[in-house]
Amino acid sequence: MNLAVQLAPNNQRGLPLRNPVMTASGTFGYGTEYADFVDIQRLGAIVCKGSTLGPREGNPQPRLAETPSGLLNSIGLQNVGVEALVKEKAPMWATWQVPVIVNIAGESIDDYGSLAARLDRVAGVSGLEVNIGCPNVKSGGMEFGTDPRAAAAVTAAVKKASSLPVIVKLTPNVTSIVEIAEAVVDAGADALCLINTLKGMAIEVSTRKPSLGNICGGLSGPAIKPVALHMVYQVANRVKLPIVGCGGIMSAQDALEFIMAGASAVEVGTAQFVNPRALLDVLEGIEDFMRREGVKDISEIVGAAR
Ligand SMILES: Cc1cc2nc3c(=O)[nH]c(=O)nc-3n(C[C@H](O)[C@H](O)[C@H](O)COP(=O)(O)O)c2cc1C
Repeated sequence: MNLAVQLAPNNQRGLPLRNPVMTASGTFGYGTEYADFVDIQRLGAIVCKGSTLGPREGNPQPRLAETPSGLLNSIGLQNVGVEALVKEKAPMWATWQVPVIVNIAGESIDDYGSLAARLDRVAGVSGLEVNIGCPNVKSGGMEFGTDPRAAAAVTAAVKKASSLPVIVKLTPNVTSIVEIAEAVVDAGADALCLINTLKGMAIEVSTRKPSLGNICGGLSGPAIKPVALHMVYQVANRVKLPIVGCGGIMSAQDALEFIMAGASAVEVGTAQFVNPRALLDVLEGIEDFMRREGVKDISEIVGAAR
C-alpha cells in the first residue's frame, strides 16, 4: 500500500510525506511535547505552533472554554518567537525523519516576508504554513484572510522571500472561501490548508461575563467538521493544488471523508486533547480501510466523492 503524498508538486524542493496524517498547528507544540505518547516519526508531518517575529505571551486567561462537541480557544499566538525557534527547535528537527512545517503569523505583510526569509534554508524546516487568519494591524485590524487582495499579497510576500514549499492556511470566517483560495493560488501558493477555527464566544452565566479573557475565540473540534468538509469540497472542485483538510477530525472515518472530498492530506488538532493517540489511530484506521477495500494507493480515493 502506498500512503505517500507529495504536497508541493510545483515547488523545486517539494514536500514529500510518508503518509497524509499531520498535526494541526497549536495543538502539538514544537513536536517534542507529545513524544512520550506518540512515535512522532510515524507521522506524515508535524506543523508547529504558530510563530511570530518576536516572542509573544498570548491573551489573558481563561483561554479555553469547552462547548458542545467543540472547544473555544483564545491562546493569542503565545510562542517563543522565530529566533528562538531557529536556534533551539530547528536543530532538533534536523535530526528527525518526520518533516516539520513552521506555521507563521504576522501583523503586517512585511512581518510575513521577514519570517519567511528568516526560515529559508534553516536545516530542519521543510515547509511553511501561512496563517492568514491574523489581523492586519497596520490596516485597521481586518484579517488578511478575509480579503482576496490581502491574502494574495501575504502569499506573494512569503513566496518571494523563501524557496520553501508554502501551504496557505485559510480562515473559514469569510463569505466565499473559493474566492480567497483562488486568489492565493494565483499568488503562487504551493498548497492550501483549510480550515482554521471559526469565530465564537461563550458566556459564564454565574459571573455574567464572557468565558474567555479575550471575549472571542476560535471554535474547533467535531462541531466544525461539516463546515470544514464542505469548504474542502468546494475548493477542491475549483483549484488544482493539493489541499490539507482540517477541522474536527476525530477518527480515520472523519479523515477519509476529507480525503474523499478532495484533501490530499489531513491535520488533526483538538482530537488529541481527548485522545493523545488520535494521530496514530487516524493513520492506522486509514491503513485498515485501504487494506479492507483493496486501495493500493491513497491517491485513488482523493476526491472520490466529487
Ligand atoms: C489550542 C489551539 C491553538 C491553535 N493555534 C493555532 C496556531 O497557532 N496557528 C494556526 O494556524 N492554527 C491554530 N489553531 C487551529 C488549528 O490548527 C486547526 O486549524 C483548528 O483547531 C481546527 O482543527 P481541529 O478541529 O482538528 O482542532 C489552534 C487550535 C487550537 C485548538
